[in-house]
Amino acid sequence: MLISGGGSNLEAILRAQAAGELGRGQVGLVISNKPEAAGLERARRYNVPARVVDRKALGSENAFQAALLSALTDSKTDVVCLAGFLRKLAPVIIQKFRGRILNIHPALLPKYGGAGMYGHFVHEAVIAAGDAESGCTVHVVDEEFDRGPVLAQVRVPVLPGDNAETLAARVLEQEHRLYPQAITRFCEGLS
Ligand code: GAR
Repeated sequence: MLISGGGSNLEAILRAQAAGELGRGQVGLVISNKPEAAGLERARRYNVPARVVDRKALGSENAFQAALLSALTDSKTDVVCLAGFLRKLAPVIIQKFRGRILNIHPALLPKYGGAGMYGHFVHEAVIAAGDAESGCTVHVVDEEFDRGPVLAQVRVPVLPGDNAETLAARVLEQEHRLYPQAITRFCEGLS
């Protein structure tokens, strides 16, 4: 699992695993690109190895991506799940794990995806557009932000009076259900 921040999706997945609801899925390693990511502490509480691959400390994007790739290959990772991970993966990582990198996005892709579309920016855009519904999407990651094949989606209504915060909370609740289920199904299909 790759994270950059709070890690509430990570926690939902770890909770599902602890409850025996993640099927063949097993979280073997959590990596954050930021040392202060609260998700690291969540991983440790579930006794899952957690590492920082610090983009800032590594100095260059190349060094960062190389360290990420080593961490993933050394740990014999089969599937990479992005959960609020806000860096773009280098093509060499996408190639190495082609078709086995998943991401969750807090909108109904292909709407409201792409560079700069994350977190509250997504919900602000949905509200500004006056959409009656939003939702969340789990998809396979390719070389572009938020573009690969969609695996699963849940819709939620946008209610009168919603702001980015209230909409985010409604969407996040569904993310926490959708992502563990999508990972479970995805892992079932692996040979
Ligand atoms: C989630 O809402 C996730 O969908 C979003 O960041 C949040 C992370 O929360 N991801 C993106 O916007 C990716 N484009 P979390 O750290 O509490 O799981």
